[in-house]
Amino acid sequence: MFKIIEKKALAPKVKLIKIKAPLISKKALPGQFVVLRIYEKGERIPLTIADKDPSEESITIVFQEVGKTTKLLGKLDTGDSILDLVGPLGNPSEIEKYNVVIGVGGGVGIAALYPILKALKEKGNYVISVIGGRSAEYVIFREEIEKICDETYITTDDGSLGRKGLVTDVLKELLETRNINRIWAIGPTIMMKVVSDLTKSYNVPTIVSLNPIMVDGTGMCGGCRVNVGGKIKFTCIDGPEFDGHLVDFDELLLRLKSYREEEKLSLKLFEESEGEEIASFEE
Ligand SMILES: Cc1cc2nc3c(=O)[nH]c(=O)nc-3n(C[C@H](O)[C@H](O)[C@H](O)COP(=O)(O)OP(=O)(O)OC[C@H]3O[C@@H](n4cnc5c(N)ncnc54)[C@H](O)[C@@H]3O)c2cc1C
Ligand code: FES
Repeated sequence: MFKIIEKKALAPKVKLIKIKAPLISKKALPGQFVVLRIYEKGERIPLTIADKDPSEESITIVFQEVGKTTKLLGKLDTGDSILDLVGPLGNPSEIEKYNVVIGVGGGVGIAALYPILKALKEKGNYVISVIGGRSAEYVIFREEIEKICDETYITTDDGSLGRKGLVTDVLKELLETRNINRIWAIGPTIMMKVVSDLTKSYNVPTIVSLNPIMVDGTGMCGGCRVNVGGKIKFTCIDGPEFDGHLVDFDELLLRLKSYREEEKLSLKLFEESEGEEIASFEE
């Protein structure tokens, strides 16, 4: 069992939890993720390791409540436990001295971007971040990102914080006026697609962290397959980071919709029998 030692709400439906996980905390590197299962009959879901603190043997995850399992996770509190936590999984980010790098983050992707930008800064890069959300309250990890980056630009759809517009508006200006050596983009799949399309025309290497549906997280089921440069890759063992200019985003977007009806039904049944479900997991 893995104990939750801290929990906070970061934005509407976005929560942060710190979990005591001594071995994962010791080994985790930027870009890696865990697969967790809350209770015996629960689904296994992948979540990125947003931070770690080996001194308190903890890892931090930040998640958005989108369906049954993330809603159930959001109901857990400090002192509650999670049954299984497997990790660190996936390949770590390639942290090198590139010179000037940009991190583009959207929504919960900002938390996933944070450890990567921190490591890039520690490696001596000049780090620029461009982070955005629907409105001010959705721009999470703002202080943490500002602290480690040389420049931070914020955009919101409604203009309630930073500049009104999309992260790609600012990115385009930076690409026009600055010499950029590498870009990381993490956020909704559509955002990563648009960023990759844009940076391709400027020929700037762009890394994206993909989020296909995963089951085992260890290369056994093939559920997380993606098409990269015409080759089939398994995101859990070959990724999660790939060259954004080679990813077939349209196929990924289609595959992400494969179980929409089942997911809706699962959430409906969960909401109708919530007490029962939570009681069975507490047993
Ligand atoms: C490597 C990786 C890292 C991720 N990191 C984060 C993170 O740090 N924070 C965060 O909020 N989300 C992250 N996700 C997405 C997260 O796993 C899904 O939101 C979660 O599984 C949804 O489960 P659910 O039961 O709540 O929702 P459901 O109703 O089951 O599904 C809602 C949507 O979530 C996606 N999804 C569903 N099941 C899975 C699954 N088993 N694996 C992947 N995606 C699924 C699908 O797009 C689906 O349409 C990550 C995904 C991957 C692959
Ligand atoms: S999740 Fe099963 S192969 Fe990647």
